[in-house]
Amino acid sequence: MSLRRELKPNIYAVGAIDWDRRLFDELIPLPDGTSYNAYLVKGIEKTALIDTVDPTMTDVLVKNLEKLGTGDIDYVIANHAEQDHSGALPKILDLYPSAKVVCTPKCKDLLMDLLLIPEDKFITVADGETLSLGDKTLEFIHAPWVHWPETMLTYLREDKILFTCDFLGSHLATSDLFVTDEATVYEAAKRYYAEIMMPFRITIRKNLARISDLEIDMIAPSHGPVYNYNTPDIILNAYRDWTSDDVKNEVVIPYISMHGSTKKMIDYFAEALIERGITVKKFNLSGIDIGKLAMALVDAATVVIGSPTVLVGPHPKVVYAACLANALRPKLRFASIIGSYGWGSRMVEQLSGMMPNLKVELLDPVVIKGVPSEADFKALDRLADEIVNKHKEQSDKNG
Ligand code: FEO
Repeated sequence: MSLRRELKPNIYAVGAIDWDRRLFDELIPLPDGTSYNAYLVKGIEKTALIDTVDPTMTDVLVKNLEKLGTGDIDYVIANHAEQDHSGALPKILDLYPSAKVVCTPKCKDLLMDLLLIPEDKFITVADGETLSLGDKTLEFIHAPWVHWPETMLTYLREDKILFTCDFLGSHLATSDLFVTDEATVYEAAKRYYAEIMMPFRITIRKNLARISDLEIDMIAPSHGPVYNYNTPDIILNAYRDWTSDDVKNEVVIPYISMHGSTKKMIDYFAEALIERGITVKKFNLSGIDIGKLAMALVDAATVVIGSPTVLVGPHPKVVYAACLANALRPKLRFASIIGSYGWGSRMVEQLSGMMPNLKVELLDPVVIKGVPSEADFKALDRLADEIVNKHKEQSDKNG
């Protein structure tokens, strides 16, 4: 099915909705599908296509352009080289042979490598450079590391629309062009931030500051619906919150148990935290949506990992969660480990070594032999008390 949808006069959404996609990078769950948004901006002199779509959806983009009676395309603005936005570029350049690809110098290199696009097809733009379409002006804002090094944003001055590609987007398949259900989009945008953007939190904060002076009527990302009316502030404020240094009075507990000892400890410990007024987010790793764990890590002050010992090390599913947390670099302050073993364990050393990116204080782990005894439950109470104190110190520090 092809679509024709208008953001403002002569500015159209021409991308594709992928209702059925359930995994990204063969890793990231997409419970609500996604979209690959592309936008056509028609000036009185020139026409620009902003981003393309995933290669699997090339036909939808081509049909949408035909249906619109696009005429010629003079420029294809490539905000980002990743294939879910650039994959249809070769086909578009075949169909519109006079079109030039407008992008950052780094993006040009990547597109030449990834899609074998010839060098003479490119116009590279500097940070702050503009391109006139006649009555419309595109301003390019280099925004590296949201989430690749070559990324840029495109600001349409006269219409006050910021095209952000991945930045501020959400994996959400919806027929709504604009945000209507704010709670659903917030949830999808937080999942997107957690899975894709969180490792670049500090850089993103700088990029947020860079766009803070722009007058923005609409934010048009290349995944999920367009933010208009009051909704640009909702996503901008959410990003300010997620990228801030503030952490919440929350403990995330990813765990797994083989014969029940670790589960007994985790259940007791979670209760102990709840009784002490701490929000607990517990995830049994035996059947988890990894995205939900990533989302929980966006705000939490502490992670406590629960694992039995397998061949002297942590359970492989715990290893996976630890590697993921290490890669996502959440702003955690404290960590600890809870678990059980039969005859010997090097789980604490091995797990700690797997998370060098987490700048956390390791609180005394509680790793025991066999099933938990009264003394072990007391040790868990002590760990819960220590977390309460650490969180209080942290909150006093944040003011
Ligand atoms: Fe949506 Fe980084 O690609």
